[in-house]
Amino acid sequence: MNILVTGASGQLGSEIREKSIKYSQYKFFFEDSKSLDITDFDKVEVFVVENNINVVINCAAYTAVDKAEIEERDAENINLRGVKNLTSALKDRGKLIHISTDYVFNGKSYEPYKEEDNVDPIGVYGKTKRLGEEHILTSEVESLIIRTSWVYSSFGNNFVKTMLRLGKERDELNVIFDQIGSPTYARDLALVCLNAIDKDFSKLSKIYHYSNEGVVSWYDFAKAIMEISGVVCNVHPIETKEYPTPAKRPNYSLLNKSKIKKEFNITIPYWRDSLRDCIKKIEQN
Ligand SMILES: NC(=O)c1ccc[n+]([C@@H]2O[C@H](COP(=O)([O-])OP(=O)(O)OC[C@H]3O[C@@H](n4cnc5c(N)ncnc54)[C@H](OP(=O)(O)O)[C@@H]3O)[C@@H](O)[C@H]2O)c1
Repeated sequence: MNILVTGASGQLGSEIREKSIKYSQYKFFFEDSKSLDITDFDKVEVFVVENNINVVINCAAYTAVDKAEIEERDAENINLRGVKNLTSALKDRGKLIHISTDYVFNGKSYEPYKEEDNVDPIGVYGKTKRLGEEHILTSEVESLIIRTSWVYSSFGNNFVKTMLRLGKERDELNVIFDQIGSPTYARDLALVCLNAIDKDFSKLSKIYHYSNEGVVSWYDFAKAIMEISGVVCNVHPIETKEYPTPAKRPNYSLLNKSKIKKEFNITIPYWRDSLRDCIKKIEQN
């Protein structure tokens, strides 16, 4: 089977590349935004046909949440048009594993979001990701949408690496305590994507939720990053309103993962264990 991983130099794409070594039964094509721009219809079509691609794992996305507020067209171009190009190329040919986000929800819930709960994105990024989902749900391509949250990795830029850097530079840091969610180590999600490749999609649901186990605020997460890494920095809790950003973010991002645990028969790592693994890897690098 031939597998195309788009957005391959991002956090998730890089983790899939690293873990793919153990999946020697597949031939992988790792393409980044330069080698395969998913918004280029012709290039996507030719690539998929010429390389006889059976499965696309779409890690390509416009992910700059704040910038999206002023670059809506660019965000939609990648998060919707790019996805349309992939389904068009895959029609009658292959399957799509697509990654989406907790930002499709408005964050006003008091219990973890289930896959079938009402969506109501509160920012441009979430809106464009939802448009991508809606397209996939109505397309004829066999697809799997995995919604995830608070992704970090030893690759790329993310909250963990920012906290490690700032923690070494400063004595004090203020971090928001009134946004609650579950972090996701991209390496754990990468394994879920790789294990999904040979599943019979016709027997699966269309949408699954995945993050690490446990619940934290950004403040708790930052405290744990300092503790585990041994960085000495005083972290103080602040309210969201004390740290205004161009894009609004959901206050409550917890995803109910019962479905993926049951149907994929997986145990999900606890967030702190995965964080420890990631920090160890960052320090080794
Ligand atoms: N990061 C999070 O906290 C988070 C949370 C929830 C869901 N997600 C979702 O998880 C998935 C993976 O996220 P991630 O954290 O791995 O993101 P990431 O590190 O930002 O990677 C996204 C990749 O997409 C590439 N890309 C952008 N435009 C492209 C295009 N037109 N054609 C091909 N590639 C393009 C980017 O390349 P360039 O850098 O060269 O532009 C980048 O390497 C995304 O679908 C994202 O929406 C992420």
